[in-house]
Formats: sequence, structure tokens, C-alpha cells
Amino acid sequence: MLTKPQILSYLQGDNDAELFELSAQVRQAEVGSESYLRGLIEISNRCAKDCLYCGIRCSNAAVERYTLGLDDVLCSAQYALESNYGSVVIQAGERTDDYFVTFIEQCVRKIKTFSNGKLGVTLSLGEQTAEVYQRWFAAGAHRYLLRVESSNPKLYSRIHPTGYSWSKRVDALKMLRNSGYQVGTGVMIGLPFQTLDDLANDLIFFKKIDIDMCGMGPYIEHEAAPLTQYKSLYTNEQRIQMTLRMIALLRILMPRINIASTTALHALDPKGREKGVAVGANVLMPNITPQINRPNYQLYAGKPMNDIDLSAFDVGYGEWGDSRHFGDRD
Ligand code: 5AD
Repeated sequence: MLTKPQILSYLQGDNDAELFELSAQVRQAEVGSESYLRGLIEISNRCAKDCLYCGIRCSNAAVERYTLGLDDVLCSAQYALESNYGSVVIQAGERTDDYFVTFIEQCVRKIKTFSNGKLGVTLSLGEQTAEVYQRWFAAGAHRYLLRVESSNPKLYSRIHPTGYSWSKRVDALKMLRNSGYQVGTGVMIGLPFQTLDDLANDLIFFKKIDIDMCGMGPYIEHEAAPLTQYKSLYTNEQRIQMTLRMIALLRILMPRINIASTTALHALDPKGREKGVAVGANVLMPNITPQINRPNYQLYAGKPMNDIDLSAFDVGYGEWGDSRHFGDRD
């Protein structure tokens, strides 16, 4: 078991070669060499939140807002099914109104019925009530992603507007677990004010709350987001390297969870996703949002709008690729 001083030493880059070799071995032994696909449908960029780092925050008036219709959603899901992706992720800005909640429920039901239950459905739709989480689970969704963004409540409050509650977010993760979902969380890496100690604590937090899945990526400035006025402690290269170390360390700490190699890694490095997979990530999320809506879902500057070249990966086609860690718990 890695101790916190060992984690910190690896995060400092004291021995990348050893770390990456070890994490690759653990990955191979515990989850094999395959990566699983989740076709990402960015169903709406409307958002009630105003997170200080995010390009689609509600006060960014420059964004043209959209919500896909049911037909578009099903068309994207059909593409995922035909391409043998195995799963889709439905992601949107955060909204809690009844209309939206019912629309999502309907989307999940339809995706499950038209695919004959073949497509797994993951949701990434922010903080909701336990009742809403249960409704969506009952409709057929079985995994949920809700990044905690930082495990440090002080840092969390510096990157969010006044009044946003870290403990409410952690409570939401608990509600998701109690509703039966495989639960994923994650953090941004290289945030202003974020220290190596914060990052080490993020990993310890994931272990403590016993997550099933994780998505971590470099923080990337967006011109319309107020956090951009503060300097990160890390260059872009350092953020990539730090993200790879975080993925590798998490693979060693939690050998059988699913770890995504994120789009933000690719945004800073054309080989970013490959590098993430090489050090232990085993999930890829090809964007299957209709092309015409993609420019309006810019969470950060330079978010790629093109498709992943999957030939570079050993892909587990047609599989849900559930978290083994979740299965172990039963
Ligand atoms: N840089 C990197 N990641 C970001 N996200 C939002 N804004 C940014 C940014 N500027 C991430 C958050 C959120 C996920 C959907 O996108 O971690 O949870």
C-alpha cells in the first residue's frame, strides 16, 4: 500500500519510470489491456450553475444555448450501438427543473428499449435529489459521474461562487451510491492554488469513499471564466505529467476501478489519451454529440471537436465494461 509520503514523492516526479511501469503492470493484471468506450452525448449546455472555471457557466452570455431533441439523442445513441461502443454517457449542464428531469428519464428509457438493453447508460448531470437519482436509475441508467472537483473544501470554495457547498456534493455522491449506481468522481489537476498535498489528498479521498470510477483531467483556462485571472502553479506540460502520475497512482491504489483517459488530456497533448491509457486508464469517451452542437460545449479553451482514432487502442467493443471494483463488492 502506498503511504502519503510515497504518493507525494511520486507526484513530485521523483521516479516516473518506476511509477508508470508499476501502474501498467497493475492494470494488466487486474483489468487487462482493454479500454472500454462510452459514447459521450452532450445533451444540453444550459446550466444553472456558475462555476468559476467553466466555459458554459450560466453567466457566459457568449454561449449559444441548446438542448438536443429526443430524436437527436436517439440518433447519437444509434450511432454508438452501430459502432459497437457498448455504452453511452449523457452529460449536460446542471438543471433540476421537472421538465428536464422527465426528459432525461425518457431519454434513458428509450435508449434502453431501442437497443434491447444492449447499451449501458452513464449519467453526468450534476447534483440532484435522491428521488431524481432513483428515478433515473429505475429508468435504466446504472453509472453516474459527479466530479468532486477537489477533495479540499477550501480549494472547492475558491473555484466556485459563494454558497456552493462541498459537503452537499459529497452527500450527492453518497446518495448515488445508495441509489445503486456505480459511482464515479474526479478532480481537475493544475488548478490555481492547488498544491501537491491537495492532489495526494484527492487520491486518498477517492480510496476512502471507495469510488468505482474516476475521471481526472488537467485544468485548462477558458477566457470567459473568472478563475482564468489566477495563475496555475503548473505549466501545461506539468499538468499533463501530473495527470498521468495521478492516473498511475490511482491505478495502484484502486486496481480494479475504471479510470477514464479524458478529453482534456487530449486538448493539451495530441497523444494525451494514449499516454493516459499507457499508464493505467481503461475508459475512453468518444464524443458523439451532433457536430453542429459541439462548438457550444466548450468547457475550456481548445476542447477537441474531432473524433478519437480508436485504432491506437485495444478496445473492448460491444461491452458495457463495468467497474470490476463495483462487481467485487456484491
Ligand atoms: N478545465 C478542465 N476541466 C473542466 N471542467 C469544467 N471546466 C473545466 C476547465 N476549465 C470539467 C469539470 C466538470 C467536467 C464536466 O468538466 O471537472 O466536472
